[in-house]
Amino acid sequence: MNRTEPLVLGIESSCDETGVGIVRGNTLLTNAVSSSMEEHVRFGGVIPEIASRAHLDAFVPTLRQALEEAGVTLDDVDAIAVTSGPGLAGALMVGVCAAKALAVATGKPLYAINHLVAHVGVGVLDGGELPENLGALLVSGGHTEILRVGSLTSDVELLGSTIDDAAGEAYDKVARILGLGYPGGPAIDKLAREGNPKAIRFPRGLTQPKYMGSAEAPGPHRYDWSFSGLKTAVARCVEQYEAAGQEPPVADIAASFQEAVVDVITSKAVLACTEHGITNLLLGGGVAANSRLRELTAERCAAAGISLRVPPIRLCTDNGAMVAALGAQVVMAGGQPSGVEFTPDPSQPVTSIHLPAA
Ligand code: KG4
Ligand code: ZN
Repeated sequence: MNRTEPLVLGIESSCDETGVGIVRGNTLLTNAVSSSMEEHVRFGGVIPEIASRAHLDAFVPTLRQALEEAGVTLDDVDAIAVTSGPGLAGALMVGVCAAKALAVATGKPLYAINHLVAHVGVGVLDGGELPENLGALLVSGGHTEILRVGSLTSDVELLGSTIDDAAGEAYDKVARILGLGYPGGPAIDKLAREGNPKAIRFPRGLTQPKYMGSAEAPGPHRYDWSFSGLKTAVARCVEQYEAAGQEPPVADIAASFQEAVVDVITSKAVLACTEHGITNLLLGGGVAANSRLRELTAERCAAAGISLRVPPIRLCTDNGAMVAALGAQVVMAGGQPSGVEFTPDPSQPVTSIHLPAA
């Protein structure tokens, strides 16, 4: 196998995006994505069973599209990489089954890749090798995590995460409360520009001293987030206006909610970085599209002497190129294939970057 500049096909199916990406080493060749988002709109959130069926429908057409766009055949590919977790069990299973079938049919080595670490690995496709002392802040409908990345292929640590809803999920739930439709993130982002972010002081979860502790003795949730209380606070706020027979000021509520989310995400992420000697931060996940999150992350990183990297948004949202990119990193680092006997792990920890052979 070519381990210098391997041609890797990456498959992603952990949530509602069916992604097939192809890279050669650190170079992106194609990134084909089919999303089932439209099918979840009327439910206001991703329905796992619908997502799984949509992956089944979309996989072969997306694969064909990717191969055609990249101008390569399955025969040319050096290795196949697939997301094995974390994610929705049924959705993961579709991508993993497809990847195993391809591996068996072609005889190509298969690598079972960690979805969260892949969100970081995608950074190599935009600007080459990642710097040392790297942190990664991942914010989407499925995750809110801060990672320390000593090495993409051998040393990743979870510093903090949400203990309930993901930030994007909070956006989607609050948008529903405000009658803004799904997905809620872009709608709130837009409406917030017309509102006053200081109009209402919504709670910043897990920021009390008992959770934060001190630099010497960190509390149990120093770098963790919680957004369920915030969502409830927004619901109460709307109810109070309605009970008083008044129209809730939706733009002010949207702006104040957004400020609470972005404030607590960025302050804790920067704290985790400074307390771990992290001087470079990569921002990823679908919520990286949020204008205020980008702005405040950039501001606070600059103030703390952290240099910030944000890949183009199509690489930040779930896609197959990120899986291919991390797969290629593992191949180049001499990592062994995972075989075809592994099962998807819906709660695969970040320390498990790629699954070993059974
Ligand atoms: O990474 P992603 O495409 O997929 C999953 O999480 O599966 O992220 C989607 C999430 C949704 O919750 C959506 O509301 C949120 O990202 N989002 C945003 C924005 N654009 C998308 N949230 C806030 N502001 C945005 N501009
Ligand atoms: Zn993701």
